Amino acid sequence: MLPDAARLAQAAAERFAVLGGEAIRGRGRFAVALAGGSTPRGMYQRLSSTFAERVDWPRAHVFWSDERCVPPDDPDSNYRMAREALLDRVPIPAGNVHRIRAEAVPEEAAAEYESCLRKFFGQHSTAGPAAGAPRPPRFDLILLGMGEDGHAASLFPGTAALSERNRWVIAHYVEKLAAWRITLTLAVINAAAEVMFLVSGARKAETLRRVLAGFDKPPALPAQMVRLADGRLLWLVDAEAASLLPR
Ligand code: 6PG
Repeated sequence: MLPDAARLAQAAAERFAVLGGEAIRGRGRFAVALAGGSTPRGMYQRLSSTFAERVDWPRAHVFWSDERCVPPDDPDSNYRMAREALLDRVPIPAGNVHRIRAEAVPEEAAAEYESCLRKFFGQHSTAGPAAGAPRPPRFDLILLGMGEDGHAASLFPGTAALSERNRWVIAHYVEKLAAWRITLTLAVINAAAEVMFLVSGARKAETLRRVLAGFDKPPALPAQMVRLADGRLLWLVDAEAASLLPR
């Protein structure tokens, strides 16, 4: 637990830099999926300032955990937030920024993004379930936020997206938002080497309590369904979000 949102952003940026260094030393590249929403902005701003020299940006490859189906310059775009807070301020090659083309027809954008993942992670496959779906890609780091309803990425409670086990990326219409979203599936999220949740603020406290208190029970909330097969799950939370957790 970090004292406040600023220290949470600092700790998250530090972890990002450490993981990036390890991945690049070990595999020559760092594959990270960025979270959307507002919480990560402070982290991205630190990555493009205090921590900018700590990351070998030409060897970093940036993806997204999810995206709203809006144009890339839309105020709601997760891509736009990351571009403004981070990507326009560091020497990352354009070819290393793997944007979800969310302005396109949602299903087409999802299929295109999945092809991009298959290409990047080296698994060209036309395999469907019959042929045995290929192993999901293993991101070095996937960043996630958590909604007050316990959603993660764009995996919302009660949606069919939660039970998708073969596809890596899906587009779905989220009734409660009256909007289309594109998201990594749990198949990909749970295959990551590390998932880092960033949770800040008092309004998340009750949900965080439910999520962490219920981790030993069958998952009820999407955030509880993030259970890595062979990786590290890290919750970076500030004091306000943690205020209802048992001491
Ligand atoms: C999105 C995110 C979403 C977000 C949570 C928390 O596209 O909105 O992927 O999952 O991380 O809703 O959002 P805040 O950080 O704004 O609270």
